[in-house]
Amino acid sequence: MSSQTAPSRTKRVTAPEIQARKGQTPLVVLTAYTTPMARIMDPHCDILLVGDSLGMVIHGLPNTIGVTMEMMILHGQAVMRGAEKAFVVIDMPFGSYEAGVEQAFANAVRLLKETGAQAVKLESGPTVADTIRYLTARGIAVMGHVGLRPQAVNVDGGFKAKGRTEAERQKVIKEAQDSEAAGAFSIVVEGVAADLAGEITRLVRIPTIGIGASADCDGQVLVTDDMLGLFDWTPKFVRHYADLRTEIGTAVESYAKDVRARSFPAPEETYFAK
Ligand code: KIV
Repeated sequence: MSSQTAPSRTKRVTAPEIQARKGQTPLVVLTAYTTPMARIMDPHCDILLVGDSLGMVIHGLPNTIGVTMEMMILHGQAVMRGAEKAFVVIDMPFGSYEAGVEQAFANAVRLLKETGAQAVKLESGPTVADTIRYLTARGIAVMGHVGLRPQAVNVDGGFKAKGRTEAERQKVIKEAQDSEAAGAFSIVVEGVAADLAGEITRLVRIPTIGIGASADCDGQVLVTDDMLGLFDWTPKFVRHYADLRTEIGTAVESYAKDVRARSFPAPEETYFAK
């Protein structure tokens, strides 16, 4: 094994192991939605997140509001077929946890039972600490999500960075502290300035996982399709590690040319009678 290769593990990463990474080697997190991609990413990631971003990147929705429990379950099952070692977290979709703690518990149990994922993630809001407390007290591992909350797109009027005023800054800090006090094992911090991400990371004892939140967090997450360059629009905080949109376009163009020229399939790609 080369020194560049991640050490092989015999069992799945656990929530306590993730908590123990606070202030240590940064946690590597990516979104996953399908079996083949989960299989490719699993050896390299500590956490795979079945994010409700799947509504946008897989299903072409304008935002995450239309994502359903059934969509999350279908993709969660697909990811679990490909993920052997990474800890798998599944998003609770909009409308599946806000009505009350019992609704949240029933839907979290359904997500975990029907997919086999290890934890749920839910976005912050005025009542979220009560929900996290209720779920964690009943044996459910919960990841919080503060700062920019994609499920609040309609009240916020778009995907807007958070913490730009002092009042908003204090609100984000409180949500992070409340999530920790309620029992969350880690929190995603999305779309906040570096100094706020750093302050939250210093104030809470659970790992912070940043997206558009600077290198001051305890880990990083990106939407995989963004970092693979599958879209023409790229948010400022995304780094492209591949240009798959161009690669796929070029491959499909070559295939179309070969089919039209009858150079595909060639004899070696054809069955013949014995
Ligand atoms: O849905 C998602 O992919 C997420 C990440 C952006 C953190 O919540």
